[in-house]
Amino acid sequence: MVDLSTHLLSLGPLATPCDPATLFPSPAPVELEVGSGKGLFLSSASATWPDRNLLGIEIAAGYARLCAGRLAAAAATNARIIHGDAQILLRDHLPAACLDAIHVYFPDPWWKARHRKRRVLSEPFLVQAGRVLVPGGRLHVWTDVEEYFRESLDLAAATGLFGPPAEESVLPAAHDLDYRTHFERRTRLAGAPVWRAVLRTLPPRQPTAAS
Ligand SMILES: C[S@@+](CC[C@H](N)C(=O)[O-])C[C@H]1O[C@@H](n2cnc3c(N)ncnc32)[C@H](O)[C@@H]1O
Repeated sequence: MVDLSTHLLSLGPLATPCDPATLFPSPAPVELEVGSGKGLFLSSASATWPDRNLLGIEIAAGYARLCAGRLAAAAATNARIIHGDAQILLRDHLPAACLDAIHVYFPDPWWKARHRKRRVLSEPFLVQAGRVLVPGGRLHVWTDVEEYFRESLDLAAATGLFGPPAEESVLPAAHDLDYRTHFERRTRLAGAPVWRAVLRTLPPRQPTAAS
């Protein structure tokens, strides 16, 4: 049995506020992935960027364990996964300006109108994302659902916290796991389009004489 105790964390016991840098043994900028699924991004990003600390949050217990298992097997010192709800992590635990980047890859689209409120990329989430990112911090949004993509960019623009989105491009995959995530792999192998953007947070607004 692989010991998951280092890599698998629970949301409940986290301090309020919790500086995410304290969850890692070495100081480095922290990047958060929301909805890590099977953990391809966390495992490959932590190996590619040893100078960054990679934190994932995954609401499904089985996937969080799977992800932690990958990280433990790789003995990744710069990656951790929290089992819990990203909305709660951002709203209740993370202090302002504590993350260099947030990665949201292939969030569940929740097609039915009555389920839309479950979408991760909602107005409250984007406001919190703008708060917890450092000025100039990155929000990566990739999805195979064009309507969700465009709506998310509109919601982000309406917060006034982000600059204009930039497109992200990718190279052809060099090997079987050369994809950002498992869903990206599945989508590209099926020949379907992927919508990708990165947004940067704006510097905090200076108070004017009138305010
Ligand atoms: C469609 S899957 C994509 C998984 C992975 N990002 C990928 O691209 O392969 C969406 C993931 O987000 C997780 N998720 C949904 N809502 C979440 C929330 N509020 N907090 C954390 N994870 C969430 C789901 O359990 C699922 O694993």
